[in-house]
Amino acid sequence: MAPRSPRGADDVGNGMTEKAENVTRARTKNTNLVAAKAAKNDEFYTQWADIEREINAYLDYDRDVFRDKVVLLPCDDPEWSNFAKFFALHFMDFGLKKLISTSYAPDSNPAKINYQPTLFETEDPKFDATKTRANGKKFILEPDDINGDGVVNIDDLQWEYLEGDGDFRGAEVTALRDEADIVVTNPPFSLFREFLAWVTAADKKVSMIGSENAIAYKHVFQLIKGNKLWKGATANSTDMVFGVPKGTPVKEADRLKAEKLGYPSDDERDYTRLGNSCWFTNIEHGRRHERLQLMTTADNLKFNKKLIATLDGGSTYQQYDNFDAIEVPSAEHRRNPF
Ligand SMILES: C[S@@+](CC[C@H](N)C(=O)[O-])C[C@H]1O[C@@H](n2cnc3c(N)ncnc32)[C@H](O)[C@@H]1O
Repeated sequence: MAPRSPRGADDVGNGMTEKAENVTRARTKNTNLVAAKAAKNDEFYTQWADIEREINAYLDYDRDVFRDKVVLLPCDDPEWSNFAKFFALHFMDFGLKKLISTSYAPDSNPAKINYQPTLFETEDPKFDATKTRANGKKFILEPDDINGDGVVNIDDLQWEYLEGDGDFRGAEVTALRDEADIVVTNPPFSLFREFLAWVTAADKKVSMIGSENAIAYKHVFQLIKGNKLWKGATANSTDMVFGVPKGTPVKEADRLKAEKLGYPSDDERDYTRLGNSCWFTNIEHGRRHERLQLMTTADNLKFNKKLIATLDGGSTYQQYDNFDAIEVPSAEHRRNPF
């Protein structure tokens, strides 16, 4: 009989039994799947109409809001992002000084397991088969009509690989944030808090998409209370539609709603409506200065069934424990005076 290994008969040589290794493999696979699933939830691509509606509201308020400004679009890629396409198209009429867009490395993004570089990249002499997966990219548009066609637009965009993976929290993109005047994006939903903290730490103008639920996050609420952040101009009632990678689970009702709004699935993407998404910004727009028609506290407490249902049997607005604030279920339940 062969002697038993001091580490056990089914030892696979690294101090781990075969059974333990299988468990670890299963766990790793599971962790990867969980990471991929979580990352997929970050892959929501913003539609042109939603960007245009919001940005136009800033321009209606101040037509020079982007003039001579450096705009940074982190978490983007002009090869697929409407943000980059939109700002590149309007580079001249907005009077931009510089447009910078960065993208995140596929190898760092578990949602990009099936990543394939585009012809735009592979046909460029700068193409690098390793860097295309491991590095982020930086795209720059400046007032130089590089191809001499008389306009500055997406065709004049210059690009290069970043040294790192393009994580917005890394030193490279942070330096670009510091260079920028305005940061615009739809950040990964799972990193919303971090993203907002990252932008506000540098005291930049920002316009970003997030979930309405974020209003109740402590940091967000404090910024709103301090008049340092507010909701964007897009009305609460506006449904925002997002493209998602093919096969991402989407609620049927949301898929149908997106289809009804003019976004049927296509070869490249499926689409979904996200009812609770909205814009957060510290850029001025007219909507926030419109006066609201409000009922008195007494009338609200007497007539608003939705509000009364939140009172827990009490006879006045519920007070937050950790904030000097009252719970107001929806805009029409705000009281006059506040
Ligand atoms: C919600 S999607 C929005 C994409 C694009 N901005 C748009 O609106 O269409 C967020 C993007 O951020 C990228 N991303 C995820 N984690 C990131 C990170 N740590 N740093 C930079 N980008 C990241 C993902 O690749 C994803 O495409």
